[in-house]
Amino acid sequence: MSYLSEGNSVETVNARMSAASDARLRRVMASLVTHLHGFIKDVELTEAEWETAIGFLTRTGQMCGDARQEFILLSDALGVSMLVDAINHRAPEGATDSTVFGPFHVEGAPELPMGTCISLDGKGEICLYQGHVLDLDGKPIADALVDVWSDNADGFYDVQQPDLQPKWNNRGVFRTGPDGSYAFRGIKPVSYPIPDDGPVGQMLGALGRHPWRPAHMHFRVTAPGHARLITHIFVGGDSYLTSDAVFGVKASLIADFLPVHSPTEQWRTDFNFVLRPTTNPA
Ligand code: BEZ
Ligand code: FE
Repeated sequence: MSYLSEGNSVETVNARMSAASDARLRRVMASLVTHLHGFIKDVELTEAEWETAIGFLTRTGQMCGDARQEFILLSDALGVSMLVDAINHRAPEGATDSTVFGPFHVEGAPELPMGTCISLDGKGEICLYQGHVLDLDGKPIADALVDVWSDNADGFYDVQQPDLQPKWNNRGVFRTGPDGSYAFRGIKPVSYPIPDDGPVGQMLGALGRHPWRPAHMHFRVTAPGHARLITHIFVGGDSYLTSDAVFGVKASLIADFLPVHSPTEQWRTDFNFVLRPTTNPA
């Protein structure tokens, strides 16, 4: 047994774990301690910096509540959420890529007839979203639930402005028919800043980073026998595509929004979702 020193800190801390504790927990914690101590030694962390870090994490926790999850926002802004997503959703060839879930999904949005417009506040330009939900063999998936949500034309989700926006504004659930098709109308979304009035916003400011996300429509697609898909369609041409504050963009998720002349919409975008089976562990 030895007392902790700069040279032996990792081994000393990790040696305290009981062999009787959970093996996966031991593996994760031993790696965490190794990298955390390595990082502190690498930058030779000062006591003032340590205090700043403790204050930052404390304020991050204090900001968390039912309506705000500042720790997930921190994970998003550091690229951690997308890295965890990448490791856990290595989509097989042909399957649609996933991306970050974000804090603005609300469970229980109304299931609507195909083609319904989900924009209830009369703001913004309307777009027809349509396509198919398919399996890896290209076969249509019937009875898939396509749960969609977006900001409004002012760049806010309904839950951010409960007194200003109608309930369920820019949200809805659509169930595919036998041909796997879906269609709905919503706004052509606009880019918006992630909530930046807390510690994460301060961190972005201190690093000279902006808080903006490129315009996108969120999708959660579920179907029996298939892995749940959480993704976005990004609006092609958006100026924030290459600097998304949460690193959520993938080239395969950038869609063309085509201008159309129709009494019901000004834009159209066609996008198919390809789900992988639940049996595929990738
Ligand atoms: C969103 O797209 O809704 C979102 C994602 C991550 C952080 C904040 C917002
Ligand atoms: Fe979003």
